[in-house]
Amino acid sequence: MQAFSDGLRKAGRTIGFVPTMGFLHEGHLSLMRLARQKADALVVSIFVNPAQFGPGEDFATYPRDLERDMALIATVGADALFTPEAAEIYPRGFETYVSLETLPHHLCGLSRPVFFRGVATVVTKLFHLVKPHLAVFGEKDYQQLQVIRRLVRDLNMDITIIGGPIVREPDGLAMSSRNSYLVPEQRPAALSLYKSLVQAAASVRAGRTRAADLVAEARAAISAHDQNRIDYVSICDPLTLDPIESIQDPALMALAVKVGTTRLIDNIILEPAVL
Ligand code: PAF
Repeated sequence: MQAFSDGLRKAGRTIGFVPTMGFLHEGHLSLMRLARQKADALVVSIFVNPAQFGPGEDFATYPRDLERDMALIATVGADALFTPEAAEIYPRGFETYVSLETLPHHLCGLSRPVFFRGVATVVTKLFHLVKPHLAVFGEKDYQQLQVIRRLVRDLNMDITIIGGPIVREPDGLAMSSRNSYLVPEQRPAALSLYKSLVQAAASVRAGRTRAADLVAEARAAISAHDQNRIDYVSICDPLTLDPIESIQDPALMALAVKVGTTRLIDNIILEPAVL
């Protein structure tokens, strides 16, 4: 991979990179199209990273289908698909991890304590392997995107990080590889996540500012579905992810909910009314 990227760089071509864990959907393809637009060459990786799954999480059952993924990537046209093995990324004796001090101690990091250390470590390694000029990550994984922006800034990596907008199913459900776990009867429960976010955004546009009230309303709407178990619903500063009480500036509303056994996340930016 490094030799291939060196070749591209020597030929004066810029490299755009989209790291994924496979089982691709339109959301991933939109990130690839964005990278293609912004760089001369596109590299995609597929690696289900064991280091970002905790005990009891879905590493073993995470959906995988390389043939299907390759056909989808071909519709965008990548210059390289990088699919390393876990033993190559984490050889025997591997002991160097990358972790951030505060950003992971919010939102998803609270219930997934190893997740961001795993993400930061593998993304650092993938950056060293692929040597991209720019990399594109989805805004659905908002906290992950912030972690990677901070990582790149803190470690002086010469890589531009670009966020790609959330891509939704026609009914509003944010696209996710984990949507494949949902059975049709769980759809209304899954949709309550996005509906709650849209409702909160409308309330903020209409002039409401008290975060606690909006969080309580979203929690009530989501909990009305028996299948749903809320991990968190949070309104917070979009950069630090610190919770906020009163929405005076654009704020992030983010949530994570287990629908049956499927953990889903979603988010929206709440824009206060212009007075
Ligand atoms: O968002 C993902 O698919 C993964 O967390 C990433 C960024 C590919 C790292 O494993």
